[in-house]
Amino acid sequence: MQRVKRVLMCRPTYFDVEYIINPHMKPHAVDQALAMQQWEGLVAALESQGVKVEIIEQKPDVPDMVFATDQGIVEGGTVLMANFRYPERKPETRYYRAWFREHGFEPRELTKIFNFEGGDALFVGKMLIVGTGFRANVASCEELADNLGIDVVPVRLVDPLFYHLDTCFLPLDADTAFYYPPAFSENSQGLLKKLIPNLHEMSRTEAEGFSANSLVSGDTVILQAGNPTFRKKLEKLGRKVIEVEVGEFNKSGGGIHCLINTLEKT
Ligand code: ARG
Repeated sequence: MQRVKRVLMCRPTYFDVEYIINPHMKPHAVDQALAMQQWEGLVAALESQGVKVEIIEQKPDVPDMVFATDQGIVEGGTVLMANFRYPERKPETRYYRAWFREHGFEPRELTKIFNFEGGDALFVGKMLIVGTGFRANVASCEELADNLGIDVVPVRLVDPLFYHLDTCFLPLDADTAFYYPPAFSENSQGLLKKLIPNLHEMSRTEAEGFSANSLVSGDTVILQAGNPTFRKKLEKLGRKVIEVEVGEFNKSGGGIHCLINTLEKT
């Protein structure tokens, strides 16, 4: 099982909800001091697992810049940069591109014709599953496959509450994943069943509690606090669970996985 070695996170100095681009978003309901505390708790949890946390500072004009995973896919020394669907988030790319360059990564751009955000792309073994319908276009999958030289499988998301793949799908290892079936079209549910030998279901309550938005490293799962039934399911599969509270970020439609971009695995 692969362990996470190094990640990139954005300090939430200017985190707030200032516009609505997903149904979770409640303008100006964020307690900023609490958000900072929760984010520091997540950093500490990662560091306790031996993960090196790199930090990018947030800029004031981009409240969603804290969601580092959406910025793109890091593969070795290159980063395939996102092409955000909404104009509100497009300015984030410039800041992250600069960070990646300064830290020795080579940022690569897709054609910019099709939308693609990192929260829609999750690896199951060597296969990249991409959630389409809200933030990523099916056509972006072809570009990703060409660029990365890997197989990319699009699945169609149908419920706006689960607008990114990482809100309803959680791979644990190359053969094992959880999914919330109604977030996917029927055909895509069937496709996932065929592709993943050990595919487990999560309940609506678990999905709404941001259970899928966890960070998996080896046999350890960092899970949003307050998901007792999902915790039990993970423990039954032999996983160790660390709970972290990131409720302030849920108000923007994000959770633990959204806040972390994995730079290196072992
Ligand atoms: N407010 C952000 C947006 O709607 C939340 C992004 C959460 N990211 C994720 N990977 N689910 O774009």
